[in-house]
Amino acid sequence: MGEVILEIKNLFTSYGRIPMLMDISLTVHQQNICCLLGPNGAGKTTLINAIIGTVNADKGQIIFKGEDITNLPTHDRIAKGIQVASAGVGTFPKMTVETNLRLGAYNINDEKLLAQRLEEIYESFPILKGRLEQKAGTLSGGERTMLSIARAVINKPDLLIMDEPSLGLAPIVVDEVFHIVKRLNQENGMTIMLVEQNIAKALSVSKFGYIIQKGQIIYSGPSEQLVDCDALKNPVM
Ligand SMILES: Nc1ncnc2c1ncn2[C@@H]1O[C@H](COP(=O)(O)OP(=O)(O)OP(=O)(O)O)[C@@H](O)[C@H]1O
Ligand SMILES: [Mg+2]
Repeated sequence: MGEVILEIKNLFTSYGRIPMLMDISLTVHQQNICCLLGPNGAGKTTLINAIIGTVNADKGQIIFKGEDITNLPTHDRIAKGIQVASAGVGTFPKMTVETNLRLGAYNINDEKLLAQRLEEIYESFPILKGRLEQKAGTLSGGERTMLSIARAVINKPDLLIMDEPSLGLAPIVVDEVFHIVKRLNQENGMTIMLVEQNIAKALSVSKFGYIIQKGQIIYSGPSEQLVDCDALKNPVM
């Protein structure tokens, strides 16, 4: 299974006085793809925000690479090796693709290393290479998704969290996105936490999965067992 890279212990969060996440515990193992599934409004993005530190924990702990990061500011969590790739997050529509990639890599201070990383990104995401001067806001949905993934991947994070990368994309682009997810894991050994609505695809690329409903983990298990899980067939919003 590999070592544990992320452990969430009995996490509670709320929006104002309204409880959101309730007693969430989960574990992500190194070099695995772990998926988090659940209906709209279940708390998936909230959980991601709690991990990266834009939503506060009321109770519980978030342990990353053996260290308690529960109360660290977001930039420290990023510096420790967590990146979130999410369609809208972290890209600047009025700036070019290249500027977006450079801003995403703000932790890389060595210009030579950055140039090398950019080359690697252009190789992995050829769709971006031809559009370096284009403003991010004018990219197609699929291209913007690739940019958001590339912006996170350029940092070679120890944990890449993806929030519904296939959302709103045509089937052929969805296939491309899942191909990238698989390749990042298999060829680069990247640990990925994948939040998805495309249940079948998410289970097909992941080893282990959690199902969240109304702010609680209601089921977890190896992905091949989750395929038959009732909670996925009849989700409760
Ligand atoms: N900043 C906020 N203030 C108040 N309520 C919020 C805030 N952000 C999210 N919520 C509420 O928390 C609940 C969970 O939202 P969240 O975005 O985590 O769901 P999700 O599982 O990611 O859903 P989706 O699949 O639609 O993206 C929703 O009812 C949402 O309206
Ligand atoms: Mg969400």
